[in-house]
Order: sequence, then C-alpha cells, then structure tokens
Amino acid sequence: MMKKHITAIAIATFTMLFTSVGCSKQEQQASNELRIPALIDSLENKDIQLQLRKGQHQFYANVNSETMGINADYLGPTIRLYNGSSANISFTNQIGETTTVHGHGLHVPGNIDGGPQLAIKPQATWRINIPVRQQAGMSWYHPHFMGKTAEHVHAGLAGIYLIEDENSISLNLPKHYGVNDIPLVIQDRTFINGKMKPYAVTHDQMMDGLREETLVVNGTVTPFTNVPQGWVRLRLLNGSNARFYRFYFENNETFYKIATEGGFLNNPVALQELTMSPGERNEIMLDLSNMDNIHLMAEFLPSDPDDQLFFMSWLNPTASVVELRVDGALTAQGELPKTLNDIKAFTQDDKDSANLRRFTLDMDDDGNNAVMDHHSMFSINGQSMKMNVINERVSKGQFERWSITAEMMPHPFHVHGVSFQILSHQGKPPAEADRGWKDTVVVGPEPTEVMMRFNHQAGEQAPYMYHCHILEHEDGGMMGQFTVK
Ligand code: C2O
Ligand code: CU
Ligand code: CU
Repeated sequence: MMKKHITAIAIATFTMLFTSVGCSKQEQQASNELRIPALIDSLENKDIQLQLRKGQHQFYANVNSETMGINADYLGPTIRLYNGSSANISFTNQIGETTTVHGHGLHVPGNIDGGPQLAIKPQATWRINIPVRQQAGMSWYHPHFMGKTAEHVHAGLAGIYLIEDENSISLNLPKHYGVNDIPLVIQDRTFINGKMKPYAVTHDQMMDGLREETLVVNGTVTPFTNVPQGWVRLRLLNGSNARFYRFYFENNETFYKIATEGGFLNNPVALQELTMSPGERNEIMLDLSNMDNIHLMAEFLPSDPDDQLFFMSWLNPTASVVELRVDGALTAQGELPKTLNDIKAFTQDDKDSANLRRFTLDMDDDGNNAVMDHHSMFSINGQSMKMNVINERVSKGQFERWSITAEMMPHPFHVHGVSFQILSHQGKPPAEADRGWKDTVVVGPEPTEVMMRFNHQAGEQAPYMYHCHILEHEDGGMMGQFTVK
C-alpha cells in the first residue's frame, strides 16, 4: 500500500514536471474516464456507414479543440470483422478536402486497400466490401492521401478493426469489449490552454517526425478505467505520428504478450517492458487478481537512441498511459491460454525459393529551413515516392524476402496487404516476442529481413505501398509502390 502511494506520488511529480513545460495549470488535472470507441459488429450490421467529418472534441473539460473523427468528434468506431465472412462499409468524406481510408493490416486486394491512389473527393462516398481472409488480430484504418496522411491522422482520423476467427472465439480470453478487452489508441499531442495544437511542422520536426508532449489515449488525457479483479487484455496501437514508446507497468509488474499485428503468438511471452514504434500493434495481458490498481506507463524514447548516452535515459519523460482500477462489481472472465496459435516458421526451402529484394530508407538533411517542400529529402533506394511510378512488381503467391536497412535513425517499415515474419532483426535473430505475424518493423543500419507471400492482386491503378510509418517521413516521400499480379 505504502509503496503504491509513493509510486503514485512519484508519477504525479513526474507528470507535473513534465507537463509543466509549456503547459498551463488547466492541463494538470485529475484522471478522466477512458473513452472506449463505439463497437460495430459486421455480422450484425450489414451496411456500415462511416462519415469522416470535422469535430469539436474536449480533451480537457469545457475546452473545445478542432478535430476530425469518423462518426465521432475524434477517432472512429471499432469494427469487428470475422474471418471467412465479409463486411460492407461506406466511407463518406465530409472533411472538406480529399482523403483516402487505408486498411492497415488487412489482407485485401489493392482496390480496397485505400492507398494514395484511391482518393475520396469531398462529399463523395467510397463503398467497399471487405472479404476477410486472415487470422484473428488487430488492424486499423486511417487516411493515406499523398502528403496529407500526417495531418489527417493527427486531426483524429483513425479507428480499429478487430478480426476474429474460430481460434479467437474458442480461446477462453477476456472478451468483454471495453471492460476486460480494452483497445488503447496511443497518441501524443500538444495542448495550449487545453486546446489541441493543430498540425504544423517545422523543418526539424519534419526530419525527426512530429513528437509532442502530452499522451492521448482513445482521445482521453490522463485516463483511468475500471476493470474486473482478474485477467485483462489490452490491445495497444501506437497511433502516434512519430513517437516511439517503451511501455511498462508500475513496479515493473510482469505481463504477457499474446499477439503481434497479424495475430496471436504461438504461446504467451512474459515481459516487463515493450517498445513500440508508430503503426505497430501488440496485445498484452495482465492479471489483476491481487491488485487494487496499477498504471501502465510509457517512457518517451528519443528520435535517435544512439544520440543518447545510456545513463541519461532517466531524463526521458514518462507518463501514465492508463490507470487500471479494480472494481469488484465487474465480473472477471477469461484467463491466459498456454497455447494461442500454430505459426510455422518458413522452411529453408521456402527461403531458398524466395525472391530477394533490398530496400534502403534514406533521408538527407539539406538544412534548408526556408524551403518547405521537403519532397526528395526522403527516399527509399534513392527514389522519393512518385504517384506515377511503380517501384516494384511482385508475383502473387511467390515467396518474397525483403532485406531492409535505414540511415540516420530507427524507422518503422510497413508493408501493405500482407503479414510477414521477421527472419532477422537488425542483424540479430528476432526476439521470442516478435516471432509472430507482423506488418510493421523497426529497421536500422544492420539489415532486417522479413518474409511473406502476397495472396491478393494489386494493379497499377491501385498498387500497394511500403513505407516508413513516421508519418512525416511517409508524406515526405519515404514510400514506394508495388503491384501484385
Ligand atoms: Cu498505416 Cu501505409 O499505412
Ligand atoms: Cu498499411
Ligand atoms: Cu522514417
């Protein structure tokens, strides 16, 4: 008890120290109840109508911020999809400018992937039928219009897809959405007198990616949520433009990672910390049967950890992501399964037959603060993203082995339309907790190798993308297009 108290004070002090930089008193306020995005089940709703619109969202009581959302003022509903079935979704664009809606993590053909080519004009409606052909996992949707992705996501356009399958339905996991199965969309924003600062970047922020000071979780600042006295499943999405976080619980409480972006790990992996880059998802479980409350914490990692001497890391800001408060009135349900999945690693034959491609992400700081056209400063294999250039052509069903390196700082590399396995991660074997299906991976100077097979078609009119998921880098041109035929 005493220990908890001291930790709480330490957290409060840290938070104050931290938020007091450039923030007003208004922002150092008590906890808010965590917002849970509305849930739409695609089996119950055969005509899911989503409206992208402008909103007025109150991050702080009685202060309106100019935001955007989907059927909401900020963020959008969670949509539950079922493997083997399909979902009818229409996206109506009421934000007053062109955008697109990409299904990040979905294994769908290029024409419903929602990449930069699939523009939705103002007032127009984009209708798609998503054939769900992938295992249970957490994906998400967000705009992907060339040069506008960072701004649109920052304003609040993003939401979650929860994919279920026979396995996820039969496992005795915590399943009560928003109660013991909790989505956490984690973002960072700047507030001035309680008002969210609209998207704008300087030259340096373009280079580092926009990293802001205040954590926002499902559109809530300093949230708490009531949970039952038992196992809780947290579905983490790093939905920030550029910030990397190290997550951990108070007192370094042990938790279990059960899933990566594309599905369950074979077995839970016990961890005390977890680092996540933008675009990555991880599902974790924690047992609260002997606790009253606990904070999930985040350490804000610097843009280039190599610039930081290791003993200086205590200077990194930390903040509470969410406080879990046990409420005895809620019924505990579910437990930690021993076996979750049966992922098979690629065989040597698979690897030998794979088509090898190499990618190098690069950025070139011309130091020119005056010129705000940053296009061409960011590239992959020496080329900046061009809407009319197809950079790679992939054969459907063929094993692909991609070796990726990156300069200047760690970059989260993301591939559309597929889940991959990591063969090697920055020159080392992947950690046990990363031996799952993924679609986003942090790359650096030492090569990272991923392997996959594309099962859907993506033609010249609607190709897939690979890119850095630091949204400023993506918008700046650190992206390429590829077809699958
Ligand atoms: Cu989450 Cu191509 O994006
Ligand atoms: Cu994507
Ligand atoms: Cu990058």
